[in-house]
Amino acid sequence: MTAYLVTGGAGFIGSNFVRHVLDHTDALVTVLDLLTYAGNPQSVEGLPEDRFTFVHGDICDARLVDQLVQNSDVVVHFAAESHNDNSLLDPSPFISTNLVGTYTLLEAVRHHEKRYHHISTDEVYGDLELDEPTRFTEATPYNPSSPYSSTKAGSDLLVRAWVRSFGVQATISNCSNNYGPFQHVEKFIPRQITNVIDGGRPKLYGAGLNVRDWIHADDHSAAVLRILEAGAIGETYLIGADGEKNNLQVVETILELLGQPRDAYDHVNDRPGHDLRYAIDSTKLRTELGWAPAYPDFEAGLAATIAWYQGNEGWWRPQKSATEAKYAVQGQ
Ligand code: NAD
Ligand code: DAU
Repeated sequence: MTAYLVTGGAGFIGSNFVRHVLDHTDALVTVLDLLTYAGNPQSVEGLPEDRFTFVHGDICDARLVDQLVQNSDVVVHFAAESHNDNSLLDPSPFISTNLVGTYTLLEAVRHHEKRYHHISTDEVYGDLELDEPTRFTEATPYNPSSPYSSTKAGSDLLVRAWVRSFGVQATISNCSNNYGPFQHVEKFIPRQITNVIDGGRPKLYGAGLNVRDWIHADDHSAAVLRILEAGAIGETYLIGADGEKNNLQVVETILELLGQPRDAYDHVNDRPGHDLRYAIDSTKLRTELGWAPAYPDFEAGLAATIAWYQGNEGWWRPQKSATEAKYAVQGQ
């Protein structure tokens, strides 16, 4: 039985990945999570006690990380400060968690010679023009825009250096925007769904024409598992589901699915340095590893996600007012 150490497993994508692994393999899973504002122990409640262990701690804690890595076969590193808007207000935790935390994990997997998979983002490539036909590939040069994306880019480069210089057995994946259950209400889709549930209105940054390439979190999990099964050491794989939509289209769909007029949204202050468009070409993952998304219908996935937020108010309600108060200060 494979023993996985999953960092950030109480966060959005990490908790979806943990459930995916427990449902689709016989592996043992240990989560290491600091339970920052973004981590929620309820996201991993009710998992089988004989196969799941939760450890509350920091990926920058070298002694703890060393001990947990020693007792694992495979490390999957999701833990991060993940929100662009927060990185514009205070970059410091992004430097420590995303850079020092990744360095700490790399040193432990180097010493104990363990398999490592690094979770990263398409934002390391910067952005694309709205009207150009190109998409990101594994060969696109790095050009990050925000404190968040630059620390993720730096963490990717650390992984590449540890592979080349020390022979660490690592792979990297760079995924597009995820949606699905258990996503914090600071993020675009859950923020708009919960605003409407609360009788408020969606908030669009600027004109709402920025494009994101949406993928269901469960498709991201399946891709990561496939890379762990069959990916080549030292390789990078882009993960995306051909889900390009502009923000206005997403808001209109959410309003329609919730029975509201399609124009019942507000324009608010734009994000400084706001990336225009992300788009992933996932040909390598599909052709070399045979992965394909199981949720190709964005509207159906969005409807299921809305139903999840309607049915799980106890999960998101405690974070809602503090999140909105923070946005209000920025005129967002
Ligand atoms: P999230 O913010 O929902 O969760 C992050 C988790 O990491 C939280 O549980 C938090 O408590 C934990 N954490 C933070 N600092 C920690 C530390 N120092 N030690 C231990 N745990 C710590 O993030 P997410 O959206 O689930 O993103 C997970 C990963 O996927 C990140 O690496 C992110 O860059 C990447 N990613 C996210 C997306 C997306 O659309 N959300 C897309 C591509 C890649
Ligand atoms: O592309 C992958 C990245 O996707 C991940 O690396 C990040 O961790 C994740 O947060 C996400 O980054 P974005 O900045 O694209 O996601 P966010 O949900 O913050 O915003 C999505 C888009 O919606 C973006 O164009 C900004 C816009 N937006 C966001 C919010 C919160 C709004 O128009 N209104 C809002 O209220």
